[in-house]
Amino acid sequence: MTQIKPSLGIYIHIPFCKSRCIYCDFVSSVDDCSQRDKYVEYLCRQIRSASEDFSDKYTVDTIYFGGGTPTLLDDKQFDLISKEIFKRFHCALKEFSVEANPCTIDREKLITLKNIGVTRLSIGVQSFNDELLKMLGRRHDARRAEDAIRLAVELGFDVSVDAMIGLPNQTKFDVKDFIDRADTLGVEHISVYMLSVEEGTGLKSLIEQGKLIAKNDDQLADLYEYACLCLKERNFQRYEISNFCKNQKVSHHNLRYWQRLDYLGLGMGAHSLTNGERWNNSDNFKDYYDGVDKGDCRRNIQKLSKEDIESEYIMLAFRLQKGIDLSEFNKKFGENFLMKYSKAIKKNLEFLEVTSTSVAIKDKYLQLMNSIIVDFI
Ligand SMILES: C[S@@+](CC[C@H](N)C(=O)[O-])C[C@H]1O[C@@H](n2cnc3c(N)ncnc32)[C@H](O)[C@@H]1O
Ligand code: SF4
Repeated sequence: MTQIKPSLGIYIHIPFCKSRCIYCDFVSSVDDCSQRDKYVEYLCRQIRSASEDFSDKYTVDTIYFGGGTPTLLDDKQFDLISKEIFKRFHCALKEFSVEANPCTIDREKLITLKNIGVTRLSIGVQSFNDELLKMLGRRHDARRAEDAIRLAVELGFDVSVDAMIGLPNQTKFDVKDFIDRADTLGVEHISVYMLSVEEGTGLKSLIEQGKLIAKNDDQLADLYEYACLCLKERNFQRYEISNFCKNQKVSHHNLRYWQRLDYLGLGMGAHSLTNGERWNNSDNFKDYYDGVDKGDCRRNIQKLSKEDIESEYIMLAFRLQKGIDLSEFNKKFGENFLMKYSKAIKKNLEFLEVTSTSVAIKDKYLQLMNSIIVDFI
């Protein structure tokens, strides 16, 4: 009898961008293409060596290329990486996602992606307001983003778009306009990210110099609530705090993160969770290449204790619309959630939806998520 192996998600990090957007601190470099072949070669070597440890133990059911800007890779580079994965791992895919920047996709590129098996595109649109796009340092305008979405829908991809909320000068009209336009174009998944002002970014210094005005917490909360309302009106269901979809078009790969299912991150700076261990790869080219040469580029390996796993599980499950599944919790940790956390539940009762099968944070109190969760961990 064949044994059913646990499922695995593979994340591939592509750390290249044409230019840096003012808010972004992701692991990525602005390059002149000269690094890319070398990086792809090392990535393929890491895929090969990781497969020796993992391919027998798992069946891969999601692949996600993130960045950076994966769509900067040329056809040959895409082909090399995906072939290496398919050759080295046992795959029974339910989703193959690629992050795409609107100004790096055209019909030819999308057909290449289709041919290698990509099923879903996550397009970084951010806004359909040209002034805001310019302010953010995006290289595309609204029209280009709309053309990219139209093409992706026409070619049959599941399409997700990223929206940023809480930008300086952003109005409620901008938020509603984004959702209306995305919906009209046939998008079935929207990720809504609250702007986070990161250290060392251009955005942070412009705010410090008084050239841009950051929204305060109340304004941010108000815009997020308004976005949720507009999404509901357009029949998008929230399934995670920042993620909304129609027709059950959830991101299966990203759900793994919130459900604490195993994933293997390959490439510079990528994070992994396998068999109760978390680690990340080196986040600069030199150390990453050295690591691959030595056969190990893992950093910060953390063996999680039962208590760590339980805290992570609670923190991540509260992000989900369905919250904590009581029977799953009891099965996983051998304890009764309602009894173990009765004090925290009582303290936060007005913010929680408690049923006989689950405990979730009520929609209107999602903004308080962090302060609620601290009582549980
Ligand atoms: C790696 S990027 C997506 C793909 C591609 N690089 C692009 O920008 O088009 C992932 C998403 O994270 C979001 N993001 C990045 N930095 C952020 C920040 N500081 N605050 C909020 N959202 C951010 C953006 O919506 C972005 O599209
Ligand atoms: S938001 Fe995307 S395109 Fe812009 S710098 Fe970050 S990773 Fe690159």
